Amino acid sequence: MEILCNDRELFVFKKVANAAAELGLPTYLVGGFVRDKLIGRPTKDVDIVCVGDGIALAHKVAERFRPAPGVNFFKTYGTAQLKLEDMELEFVGARKESYSEESRNPEVEPGTLIDDQLRRDFTINALAISLNPDDYGKLIDPFDGLRDMALRVIKTPLEPGKTFKDDPLRMLRAVRFASQLQYEIAPETFQGIKDHADRIKIITQERITTELNKIILSPRPSVGFELLYRSGLLELIFPQMVDLAGAEYIDGRGHKDNFFHTLQVLDNIAPHTDNLWLRWAAILHDIGKPATKRFEPGHGWTFHGHEVVGGKMVPRIFSKLKLPAHEPLRYVRKLVELHLRPISLTKDNITDSAVRRLLFDAGEDLEDLMTLCKADITSKNKQKVHRYLENYELVQERLKDVEEKDRIRNWQPPITGEMIMETFGLAPGRLVGDIKTAIREAILDGVIDNSYEAAYGLMLSLGKEHNLEPVSNL
Ligand code: CTP
Repeated sequence: MEILCNDRELFVFKKVANAAAELGLPTYLVGGFVRDKLIGRPTKDVDIVCVGDGIALAHKVAERFRPAPGVNFFKTYGTAQLKLEDMELEFVGARKESYSEESRNPEVEPGTLIDDQLRRDFTINALAISLNPDDYGKLIDPFDGLRDMALRVIKTPLEPGKTFKDDPLRMLRAVRFASQLQYEIAPETFQGIKDHADRIKIITQERITTELNKIILSPRPSVGFELLYRSGLLELIFPQMVDLAGAEYIDGRGHKDNFFHTLQVLDNIAPHTDNLWLRWAAILHDIGKPATKRFEPGHGWTFHGHEVVGGKMVPRIFSKLKLPAHEPLRYVRKLVELHLRPISLTKDNITDSAVRRLLFDAGEDLEDLMTLCKADITSKNKQKVHRYLENYELVQERLKDVEEKDRIRNWQPPITGEMIMETFGLAPGRLVGDIKTAIREAILDGVIDNSYEAAYGLMLSLGKEHNLEPVSNL
């Protein structure tokens, strides 16, 4: 134990051990904490199981700290939480669980340590460390979790069908751990997931999405998505992504498999960002491709407008997956809609106005958009990749130059809707919006200067075209 835990943890665990000895309760560290310590992942949540009353133990432990921390306990579940400054201890009495086909909730009764280990999802999550006087620090590993860690494999301690029937969320947890740790799922465990994938339907969307987001945030998310795809889970939880899979051929011409392309974009972006929403933008950037796919004879496959159609699909997907509706949705949709724009600026003879327009449209999300575009380069041809990246460097320089000159990024046009209404004595309405847009477009296109005077002048002449006379001077 000394090699696994730091001094602070050892100090806290000694207090737990002493309190448990005083109550005469056999007590163990278990679950995710033991797993993460053995793997060397940082962890702050400590799961503690005792054979007996976990809530009583939590109170006894709290008494040993000065000042005594509060104990949150849940009588129905027999669990208690103790929040220390730097870690959280979760106490529970060892339990035996039995599930029936009809109910999602198990029958729970007090059990032994081994009963408690048996009800856990994977061998690597079923390890325990004794906090008892006669074998303090001993690792108790009835299902060879240590061996599975060395083999880098996720495996259920029981027959997989039973583990997954008991709690179908565990199928997603298996994939999530495989993706986070870059482990394999044992073949019979994977077969169990395939056999029971359909049961995922009884799990709430929130819990599914929490696991999905953890897969997305893992170092190589493609590991998780390929497992979701091959097991049949992806079709059930996120069918739009499965629609990207496959390549069709007509007249000997094929297109790339957009599912595997998307996974590569996601893996490409992962080292550059831990922003969940930028990773979501990578997942969704081509989501409109299946709906826009056409074969044009003599030309080949096209996906015209897939960025617009994809952008429109984002709100529905967010709502189905219960992802947050406001800021993240706006951001992801915007990146999906804009993801082809920087590449269009790599052509020759690009005017300043096209550059200004992208600065205006992308605004503060420009860097993220460029990160997405670079990740979108998935050619296997190294020279091509090099050329595309160089092109993006040029685009970035151009964007920088125009921004320095025109300051468009966080820019608001000098004439607001209120000013237009006041000048012409107009009530809010379409005409106000039309004039405002025309002024903004004229500035972005370089037709007039980005100045108050020029914008004011244009407003007056646009008003004239609509027979409007100024009723007040601004
Ligand atoms: N567990 C389980 N089945 C579940 C959820 C949890 O058997 N559906 C068990 C596992 O032994 C797990 C422990 O409960 O290690 C704690 O679960 P939790 O805190 O949710 O997850 P961790 O495994 O700690 O992983 P993470 O903190 O990364 O979510």
